[in-house]
Amino acid sequence: MKEENLLLERLKNYGRSQRYPFHMPGHKRQKRCFCENFPNPYEIDITEIEGFDNLHHPEGILRESMQWAAKVYGADRTYYLINGSSGGILSAICGVSSFGDKIIVSRNCHKSIYHGIILKNLKTEYIYPQIIEKMWITGGISTDDVEKTLEKNPDACAVLVVSPTYDGIVSDIRGIADAAHKRGIPLIVDEAHGAHFSFGGKDAERFFPLSALDCGADLVIQSLHKTLPSFTQTAVLHVKEKYINIEKLEWYLQVYQSSSPSYVLMAGIEHCIFEMEKRGGKYYSEFQERFLRLRKNLSSMKYLKLLDEDVIGEFGVHDLDKSRIVVSCKGTSLSGEKLGELLRKKYDLEMELCGIDYVVAITTIFDTQEGLMRLEKALLEIDKDRNSNDFDDERTGEKEANVFCGEYRPEICMTLSEAMNKKRDRIKISDCAGKISAEFVYLYPPGIPILVPGERIEQEFIEEILRYRQTGLSVQGMADRTSEYLMVCTE
Ligand SMILES: Cc1ncc(COP(=O)(O)O)c(C=O)c1O
Repeated sequence: MKEENLLLERLKNYGRSQRYPFHMPGHKRQKRCFCENFPNPYEIDITEIEGFDNLHHPEGILRESMQWAAKVYGADRTYYLINGSSGGILSAICGVSSFGDKIIVSRNCHKSIYHGIILKNLKTEYIYPQIIEKMWITGGISTDDVEKTLEKNPDACAVLVVSPTYDGIVSDIRGIADAAHKRGIPLIVDEAHGAHFSFGGKDAERFFPLSALDCGADLVIQSLHKTLPSFTQTAVLHVKEKYINIEKLEWYLQVYQSSSPSYVLMAGIEHCIFEMEKRGGKYYSEFQERFLRLRKNLSSMKYLKLLDEDVIGEFGVHDLDKSRIVVSCKGTSLSGEKLGELLRKKYDLEMELCGIDYVVAITTIFDTQEGLMRLEKALLEIDKDRNSNDFDDERTGEKEANVFCGEYRPEICMTLSEAMNKKRDRIKISDCAGKISAEFVYLYPPGIPILVPGERIEQEFIEEILRYRQTGLSVQGMADRTSEYLMVCTE
């Protein structure tokens, strides 16, 4: 390989470019504030030598560090995760269930949750999020729906919801936790996108929604790397002990994490929490003003629409993460993919996610004033360039992204695990109607499955997938990389 083609060289070039990241990780590649005093990683990259404890059997400095972190967060226990939230989610699901149990789970979950469900051959009872129709994105999970599902499924071992969603939608975690606890079972919250909630200020000054941990959830998993200044793969798992078998949970944490946990990543986790505890309030009050100015100016857009606080109280939305900039282009001739491309090619701005009709920008305390202004200017300019003739009747009349938003509710024919282990065959997607899927189908990002193994494939689903492919969205999960064929169960 030529030296200039090495990954490292490509990353260095990218780092020097003017491309501005509105995506994770939350440090935004800014070499300032507390990234500045982080040493060269080679100097601190060790293994479990004398005096440096062992993450899988912590008795010394790592134990003390995690006990300190638990106090910072108000948890009974906090675990450092070096395999991202994914490792914490797998451990949480396996830690609360026995093989073949039933779990109540919100359908708009990340694929890691489905992987946990497969590993324990769990039966699933889905709760579908409501839909914010004006933008065709998923809303929250209503407490009422959780209550009703618990009523019908008294044998469930746990409730699991994702909050906030990729789009910053927060559900009523306190209500959902109370409902689960009334039945004596724990609530797991995938708060991968809400690690910053824990540092969002106190009471009236609070800029972000309350963390699920402060709302009564029992296991809360947060990706530090998504919204805080921390290395990719760093995350934490918080525990309130009452409904949790700690020994079992800790055993699974060993299973799903490397037996050689990186000291660079662990030091990065501790450093991030330390600095956020010390200076988080200050960072946020400085940045709050910028965020709010950005949001206010973007709310004046005529054709593009910013997801705003007016959704709170409807569609199962309990609260909104204001740092998430969700811009819908529904009804205009732009698709999310085209809008993302325009932002990248013309303005050198990289979004986190381009959906069928919207884009998502992740903003964090490490965004510069200049970066936020570039985003504002670009979106206002794109909006100004639209005009009333720009509405595309064909697209406006379409049934928008309904599969992705959870309107499509496939029949469950067997557990995911059973379907994964059946004999299977590769069939052209257009010929799959009526068959049972043996694999996942999702758009990436956000990685939320539209179809999971064991579900019946309907014509409506096939049409949606073909449409996604035509729109240029990245349809993934299938063994066939061209996403033309799907594995189906043949028994
Ligand atoms: C909602 C949600 N949960 C969990 C994860 C997994 O997090 P990680 O990448 O830290 O493993 C993701 C990743 O994007 C996610 O979007």
